[in-house]
Amino acid sequence: MAHRLYDMFMFEASQETWEAALALLHPSPGEQVLDAGTGTGRLAIALGDQVGDAGKVFGVDISPAMLRQARRQVARTPISDRIELRLGDVRALPFADGSLDGAVVSLVLELLPPEGTSAALAELRRVVRPGGRIVLAALAEEMPYGRTLSFYLVLRSIFRLAALGRPLALRKLATQAGLLARISMRRDLLRLPIDILLCEVPKTAD
Ligand SMILES: C[S@@+](CC[C@H](N)C(=O)[O-])C[C@H]1O[C@@H](n2cnc3c(N)ncnc32)[C@H](O)[C@@H]1O
Repeated sequence: MAHRLYDMFMFEASQETWEAALALLHPSPGEQVLDAGTGTGRLAIALGDQVGDAGKVFGVDISPAMLRQARRQVARTPISDRIELRLGDVRALPFADGSLDGAVVSLVLELLPPEGTSAALAELRRVVRPGGRIVLAALAEEMPYGRTLSFYLVLRSIFRLAALGRPLALRKLATQAGLLARISMRRDLLRLPIDILLCEVPKTAD
């Protein structure tokens, strides 16, 4: 059910966020990249186009229902052999250290409790090679809060809608996780501010 509603409501709304995330990650042909919390797999499919025949995209999600929907979407594309979907947790990623060239985590970090967000960032840093890129996209903590974000936060607290996510200071969190924050963009999603941040995994000398 959730996966159907997600595509119905979020497909168009998320388009600008996804485009910004794709432009920032910008994988080269042949690269191996991860879409962490892939949901219904739309970003993973777009990444599959970019990495080409010699590349590989991994999509990981904790929800079997989302993953089933992602599998259906991927199977309808001509590039399904480049996309591997795995059930898993972004806080304990099923990949070896430094085994990926890049990763994107879009609209997931804000859903985790604070210690989960830090654990996820540490895991992304672990699995992406030194010099590789990580793109983070999440509900932005803008100060002072704009009208829509304030309204959203009031609704969230009244109805205890923790599942909707909490605003994050993405650059600060990325820096605390030892990532080098490079370029950030701001987009709207249903009139809420979304930050999209390109980070680099430091090389040992950085
Ligand atoms: C709001 S959707 C975002 C989907 C997609 N990344 C996008 O940008 O449209 C959040 C997704 O994160 C997944 N998720 C939530 N917690 C997770 C975790 N700990 N590990 C992996 N996936 C998780 C959910 O199952 C859901 O598919």
